[in-house]
Amino acid sequence: MAATTELISALLLFLLICSSDISSGEKTRRPEPCKRLVLYFHDILYNGKNAQNATSAIVASPAWGDKTTLAAPNRFGDVVVFDDPLTLDNNFRSAPVGRAQGFYLYDKKEILTAWFGFSFVFNSTRLKGAINFAGADDIMKNTRDLSVVGGTGDFFMTRGLATLTTDAFEDDRYFRLRVDVKLYECF
Ligand SMILES: *[C@@H]1O[C@H](CO)[C@@H](O)[C@H](O)[C@H]1NC(C)=O
Ligand SMILES: *[C@@H]1O[C@H](CO)[C@@H](O)[C@H](O)[C@H]1NC(C)=O
Repeated sequence: MAATTELISALLLFLLICSSDISSGEKTRRPEPCKRLVLYFHDILYNGKNAQNATSAIVASPAWGDKTTLAAPNRFGDVVVFDDPLTLDNNFRSAPVGRAQGFYLYDKKEILTAWFGFSFVFNSTRLKGAINFAGADDIMKNTRDLSVVGGTGDFFMTRGLATLTTDAFEDDRYFRLRVDVKLYECF
């Protein structure tokens, strides 16, 4: 009797391992995107002197910081609102095809990380609507993924992933992100 119980529990364990193998195998199988677009956005942070061409501004800072200099250490506590031009190539002076609008906030004292919430807003004859993004940005990594949480207009109800790469930066004043948007739900 004891042997039978042991046999049954061994069998159950075997089945459990097999089924978890199957489900983890399914998890690694990724679908192909139904739409893909690569865009660049350019962020010029207001530093007290560049009001004319700044495209972003610190709107909140920790008590030990201010709104013209990113806080130390690691910009922790700064909240930045932006309205950045979106271009098809990495040239800041290329004609924008839309805007990247939203905010980022720096959320770790020990290292540089941010949290992003923004939209790519399109309002041209070719493209209308928005793609909405949200997620953590581990800035020190070469590439990091944000979620595409939805869309409107030409991007009605979309979802997907956006892979960010810092394409260029100049001290604290300018950065350019390459955004590889992979959509997995298209209508
Ligand atoms: C900001 O504008 C000034 C004056 O037009 C220009 O010299 C400078 O290159 C601009 N900055 C950037 C990053 O384009
Ligand atoms: C979108 O474009 C139209 C036509 O040029 C314009 O009237 C409208 O103000 C624009 N909307 C936004 C949010 O920029």
